[in-house]
Amino acid sequence: MTSYKVDGMGGGSFSTISKNRIKLAVGIVAVIILALVITIIVLAASDSNSDSVSPDRGSSAGLHTPDCVTHPGSATPNLEIANCVLDSYPLIDGHNDLAWQFYKNENNSVYNIDLKHNLLEVWKGKVTHTDIPRIRKGKLSAQFWACYVDCSSQYKDAVSKSLAQLDTIKKFVNRYPDTFTFVTSAQGILDAFSKGKVSSLVGLEGGHSIDSSLSNLRMFYDLGVRYMTVTHSCNTPWADNWKVDEDGNPEFNGLTEFGKIIIKEMNRLGMLIDLSHVSRDTMIDALEVTTAPVIYSHSSAFVICNHYRNVQDDVLQKTKQNGGVVMVNFYDKYINCPPNNKSVATLSQVADHIDYIKNLIGVDYVGIGADYDGVPTVPVGLQDVSTYPDLFAELVKRGWSQPDLRKLAGENLIRVFTKTEQVRDNLSYMPPYEDLLPAVEARNTSCWS
Ligand SMILES: *[C@@H]1O[C@H](CO)[C@@H](O)[C@H](O)[C@H]1NC(C)=O
Ligand SMILES: *[C@@H]1O[C@H](CO)[C@@H](O)[C@H](O)[C@H]1NC(C)=O
Repeated sequence: MTSYKVDGMGGGSFSTISKNRIKLAVGIVAVIILALVITIIVLAASDSNSDSVSPDRGSSAGLHTPDCVTHPGSATPNLEIANCVLDSYPLIDGHNDLAWQFYKNENNSVYNIDLKHNLLEVWKGKVTHTDIPRIRKGKLSAQFWACYVDCSSQYKDAVSKSLAQLDTIKKFVNRYPDTFTFVTSAQGILDAFSKGKVSSLVGLEGGHSIDSSLSNLRMFYDLGVRYMTVTHSCNTPWADNWKVDEDGNPEFNGLTEFGKIIIKEMNRLGMLIDLSHVSRDTMIDALEVTTAPVIYSHSSAFVICNHYRNVQDDVLQKTKQNGGVVMVNFYDKYINCPPNNKSVATLSQVADHIDYIKNLIGVDYVGIGADYDGVPTVPVGLQDVSTYPDLFAELVKRGWSQPDLRKLAGENLIRVFTKTEQVRDNLSYMPPYEDLLPAVEARNTSCWS
């Protein structure tokens, strides 16, 4: 007792002081060791928790993923959690047709229209779901902008028109460097998120855009395109689209041999394979050929709404085996139809599709691909890009955990994208495919020499 007192007073003999210094040093070392042990235990525990389902996901390493809590007495606790979750991990949407709106409304003139304005005031009476204020409100953090030209351009000017759409996307991305940044990699999405920028990626919506040419496919990749939808709503000379399921009249029963080479070349390039819009057999063929996980950039669940743009249960199971992701479309025609037809399509029905896929194959295989600006009508409560947090709030209400919400928002897509890049890197020893579409003369070649 005394010695403590004496030490505390700064007195005492030399030997008492030095003994106590040793005690102090031993104490400090013990505390440091204890702290290290605790840190290691905590790190190991959080690691095994977060990685328990998908050890090879893209990873949220480096991103702060807090446990979101509501303020006491909050009037909108679910929305508060949703917003917090979307602040902690990028919300990545698989499909948006803003570039098509610029084509239709402005002949691709981007500088006619200021995306900093609410376009509801500008494109009055027209479909308009996307602008910068609404993107920010909706916490949209990464968008695959659709580079789309309609099927009537097949065999004609599809390539040229697709280049113009790609240019339109690059124009509006480059015009707002404080908001958008052009991104071509999974890591790029995470980097842009930490800088508060909206990643802008490009998906080529329809195999007709490459005019059956592997050269064109490669050049689109070089220009920054990171997915290709294998078909739009028309067959290409090498793949069937979804309409053949509706009319029961397949042309190829899936992919032709050349179509399978397109898939392999996409694997070699590191281009995501998008199976929205294709027929069921094309989905199955592509899933058999690909060595990378696939995406459905904007498709929902067939069992909930029997539209052939949606994905059937057995294909969902194959997609789980493949490790891909189904990014749920909000279009009311694809989410509200028999056997669950309601008079008005609602946000809750979109949540039903998401829940269905999660419950059938797991939360690791579902994402968001709203199709804003690509569809004329959307459900009540999901009227534009500002409403994503409301959908997430509905899922909070349904008991979704915060790690699961982050998977839906973006982690699943990051995992698929990262894996696709690894497949590309592993195939870097391979030369490009130089195959030509057989029987070129079988096409409508009026524009060809
Ligand atoms: C776009 O081009 C078409 C055909 O040349 C023309 O009729 C239309 O007025 C143009 N629209 C705008 C917004 O410039
Ligand atoms: C790439 O190759 C390495 C080494 O052979 C292998 O361990 C890894 O699983 C491969 N990755 C993919 C995505 O194929």
